Amino acid sequence: MNLNERYGPWALIAGASEGTGSAFARQVAAAGINCILLARRDAPLQALAQELGREFGIETVAASVDLSATDALEQIQAVVGERELGLFISNAGADSTNTRFLDSSLDAWVGQVNRNVMNVVRCCHHFGSQMRERKRGGIILVGSGACYGGSSFMAVYSATKAFDLNFGEGLWAELQPHGVDVLNLILGQTDTPAFRETLAKTGQPVPPNLARPEDVARVGLERLPHGPVHNWGLADDEAGYLPMSAAARRGRILAIDQVTKAIFGEDGAK
Ligand SMILES: NC(=O)c1ccc[n+]([C@@H]2O[C@H](COP(=O)([O-])OP(=O)(O)OC[C@H]3O[C@@H](n4cnc5c(N)ncnc54)[C@H](OP(=O)(O)O)[C@@H]3O)[C@@H](O)[C@H]2O)c1
Repeated sequence: MNLNERYGPWALIAGASEGTGSAFARQVAAAGINCILLARRDAPLQALAQELGREFGIETVAASVDLSATDALEQIQAVVGERELGLFISNAGADSTNTRFLDSSLDAWVGQVNRNVMNVVRCCHHFGSQMRERKRGGIILVGSGACYGGSSFMAVYSATKAFDLNFGEGLWAELQPHGVDVLNLILGQTDTPAFRETLAKTGQPVPPNLARPEDVARVGLERLPHGPVHNWGLADDEAGYLPMSAAARRGRILAIDQVTKAIFGEDGAK
């Protein structure tokens, strides 16, 4: 697959300053796609932008945007301008509170919902419309195994990731006929600075066999045309993992799609 032909000329990586986000940026840039890099901290973004330009001869834009802000999309639109975006990677999304629900402020949880839900929806609506019009493009939503069920310490985080999973599956069903690929890349424990910080804060040792960000990014780009779900480390139809089997979920979506089309017609309400 020629990534640049399918997803160029510009990619937007939200949460690009380190870890899986910067690994995605490196691999996308290596394919010759120009990169728009977003995160809160400006210095690592500027350093990465310069490195990618130097190493791969691509154009880069780096901008500090807080994805928890309610006006993040307006800020992003101002950064992107008229550039033609063929790839949107929504990577920012880990829980940095590491507390139970009632032990962090409401503001912290609302910020997480804004970042992981509201602004993902806003960005997908804006950039997805342009991709559908051009009949090409790709969207990767970086998710977490926490999406498959709630648990203590992760009430809001797992709920936002469950939203993203269902949202991405629906987008896949709707956009696939228009040449736009959508993938929920569901990660397990991954060796990122944010995850190491969480381990340090909670006094846990670094577990063995963490996924490497560069492997995560490579697999994400490889699986993008085969959405809607890839579970890190699992086969497409992993025996014994039926509720999260990517193949079973794909089959379910296509079956439900037939029912909804029977109710709403091919194009829905006008
Ligand atoms: N690491 C794991 O073990 C693991 C496991 C399962 C799923 N995941 C998923 O993988 C993705 C990456 O996780 P991660 O461990 O690298 O942690 P992360 O905290 O999501 O950090 C990733 C990037 O997002 C940026 N970011 C975080 N909050 C932001 C905000 N409010 N506005 C703008 N940028 C923001 C960070 O840079 P700044 O700090 O500069 O803003 C960083 O560049 C997440 O979606 C997470 O849910 C990770």
